[in-house]
Amino acid sequence: LDCKILAVPVQEGAGRMGCEMGPAAFRAADLAGAITELGHSVRDLGTLLPAQPRRLHHDNPALEHLPEVVAWIEALTQAAYEASAEGFPIFVGGDHSLAAGSIPGLARRAQALGKPFFVLWLDAHPDFHTLESTTSGHLHGTPVAYFTGLKSFDGIFPPLPVPVDPQNVCMMGIRSVDAAERAALRETEMTIHDMRAIDDHGIAPLLSAFLKRVEEADGLLHVSFDVDFLDPSIAPGVGTPVVGGPTLREAHLLMEMLHESGRVTSLDLVELNPFLDERGRTALLMVDLVGSLMGRSILDRSKGTYR
Ligand code: ARG
Ligand code: MN
Ligand code: MN
Ligand code: MN
Repeated sequence: LDCKILAVPVQEGAGRMGCEMGPAAFRAADLAGAITELGHSVRDLGTLLPAQPRRLHHDNPALEHLPEVVAWIEALTQAAYEASAEGFPIFVGGDHSLAAGSIPGLARRAQALGKPFFVLWLDAHPDFHTLESTTSGHLHGTPVAYFTGLKSFDGIFPPLPVPVDPQNVCMMGIRSVDAAERAALRETEMTIHDMRAIDDHGIAPLLSAFLKRVEEADGLLHVSFDVDFLDPSIAPGVGTPVVGGPTLREAHLLMEMLHESGRVTSLDLVELNPFLDERGRTALLMVDLVGSLMGRSILDRSKGTYR
């Protein structure tokens, strides 16, 4: 692969500051080295700058940092479109409001290529609030509602180049859902695998079914990896930890299966908050997981591991 790393240190979408340091922690944990070690090339695209914030008004008084977050989304939508012209872009956050820029830019690219666009959303949270429904006012809780085309964002967030078809979105790891999100999710056509589904079936069959759909559609697959997808006992460096998440082995299995599918074309790494981490362990774990996504395996599996 020809990887391109773009640092997007947006932190105003989260309730606790510190995600701004995410790209620096990924550098210190040697994200680029872990990828090159697997035989891929890595280009550092440097650090994105937000657009000039504009005055914006919305009636929900809870909303925090609306102009700043919109300025990041505006810049990133364009940058993601350009970065995806060739190679495998990795958007290193930054909080999850990043996905309100990366995904619309990538969706526009997929449309230009005439390919269906799929999103695998790995998260403890569905991030499905509208600008009206969020009570925390933290905009990292809204990107999915925006990029699937809900009306709430019209005239406030940048106009969507093309909405993502909810039928092409699969969520895994969900275990913290606010009341308004729960109601909205009843109406959606997205596939939502909450922790109960993972307990019932296991990660592998759920993911296989989704990957099969991507394959049959000959689609492009974007993975949006919120660090709080992982159980906080292994990944404490996040602002919104939720107990009861996937284990280290479940997470590696998922990443290894994604690699074997050969379908993943872009990646978000978001919500790492180094200010809350313990001696870099969450950053190091994330780099390890990216290694699995990029082809690392315990033994050579080409001839089959089981005898
Ligand atoms: N649902 C909660 C809220 O809207 C938590 C959102 C957490 N999102 C995230 N990307 N970590 O405030
Ligand atoms: Mn707040
Ligand atoms: Mn999230
Ligand atoms: Mn989350």
